Amino acid sequence: MKAAVLRKVGEPLTIEDIEIMPPKENEVLIKTVASGICHSDYSVAHGVLRSPMPVVLGHEGAGIIEALGPGVTGLKVGDHVVCSLSPSCGKCVMCLEGREYICQEMSKVSSYACMLDGTTRLRKGAEELRQLCAIASFAEKMVIPAGSAIKVRDDAPLETVCLIGCGVTTGTGAAVNTADIHPGDGVAVIGCGGVGLSILQGARIKGANPLIAVDPVKEKRDLAMSLGATHTIDPFNENLEQRIKEITGKGVHFAFEALGTMRTISDAYAILRPTGEAIIVGMPNLKEVFELPVAQLFAEKEFRGSVYGSSRPKRDLPMFVDWYMKGELKLDEMITKRIRLEDVNQAFEEMGRGEGARSVIMFD
Ligand SMILES: NC(=O)c1ccc[n+]([C@@H]2O[C@H](COP(=O)([O-])OP(=O)(O)OC[C@H]3O[C@@H](n4cnc5c(N)ncnc54)[C@H](O)[C@@H]3O)[C@@H](O)[C@H]2O)c1
Ligand SMILES: [Zn+2]
Ligand SMILES: [Zn+2]
Repeated sequence: MKAAVLRKVGEPLTIEDIEIMPPKENEVLIKTVASGICHSDYSVAHGVLRSPMPVVLGHEGAGIIEALGPGVTGLKVGDHVVCSLSPSCGKCVMCLEGREYICQEMSKVSSYACMLDGTTRLRKGAEELRQLCAIASFAEKMVIPAGSAIKVRDDAPLETVCLIGCGVTTGTGAAVNTADIHPGDGVAVIGCGGVGLSILQGARIKGANPLIAVDPVKEKRDLAMSLGATHTIDPFNENLEQRIKEITGKGVHFAFEALGTMRTISDAYAILRPTGEAIIVGMPNLKEVFELPVAQLFAEKEFRGSVYGSSRPKRDLPMFVDWYMKGELKLDEMITKRIRLEDVNQAFEEMGRGEGARSVIMFD
């Protein structure tokens, strides 16, 4: 099968013919229908997030189950599924507490880009290829842990709801699960790509007002307005803190960071009103250290990260699909381009320039 392989940081992905092995115990084989391209794929390709190599990237996948490994329950051949970033092992202490978004297996599969048993199902001759997040959706087929395969309704278009696999759940979940937004709370979203626009939509559903979109790219600010923002700020040509004060008086109740730079993380903290909460969703190099201005702690400002939208995948992914089908979550509007696997490097270049919200790779 065809797959896009990263062999070296900073180099283009290569489209290669590779082999996929049958699913082992508690794994499923999926025919990939579509995969979104997330900034985290870009960050791995550029060395900001680390992964062993060679690795097949892609983790915002959706498709149709073709085969089940031994022991799989609750899924059948032909089911339409969206891939979850969390394998929801169901055994670790976090899963037992209902916090599948931080399942202990999740950090393992993302750090080592492997399945739960530490190996992968992708080969090229004798060479083992790693599979990002135990998914590897930049490929015509995927073998993933059964816990990562979330069944969704058959009438939902997989070429659109694939975005729920990562960006939408991460963003909308950060707004509706991680944060406790009340109607009339002021919210700012810094970075309006696929994740930021999903945060914005979750905040709109929760009744945030004002709802302020911060992005240097005009196309993104316009898109944010059409998805429910009440105001926009261009951080390269306007004074962010001053404009936030003009719009809100004292600052926002919630500031979400959805880019992953140290600068924008400190911006998120700076634009809060006293008692406000900064929620960091964007992922910088994970070795970075953030310095907190101590005086602001005594304005009781809070600071927290959000991983995978604090979601419970089996509950939340089908719920976000329903919200899309009812027209509450607007996903088609976030898809700038549908492309072929061969065009993935061009899509990365566009992402690097901040162009477009989401590109989706289509597989026939
Ligand atoms: N926490 C999690 O669980 C999780 C999950 C998925 C993705 N992420 C992270 O979320 C982040 C966003 O991902 P994405 O796919 O939406 O990225 P993206 O590239 O689609 O969007 C980033 C946006 O930031 C804008 N931007 C650039 N410079 C800016 C600045 N100085 N101020 C404000 N905006 C600026 C760009 O124009 C673009 O619109 C990434 O860091 C990604 O790794 C985190
Ligand atoms: Zn992602
Ligand atoms: Zn677990």
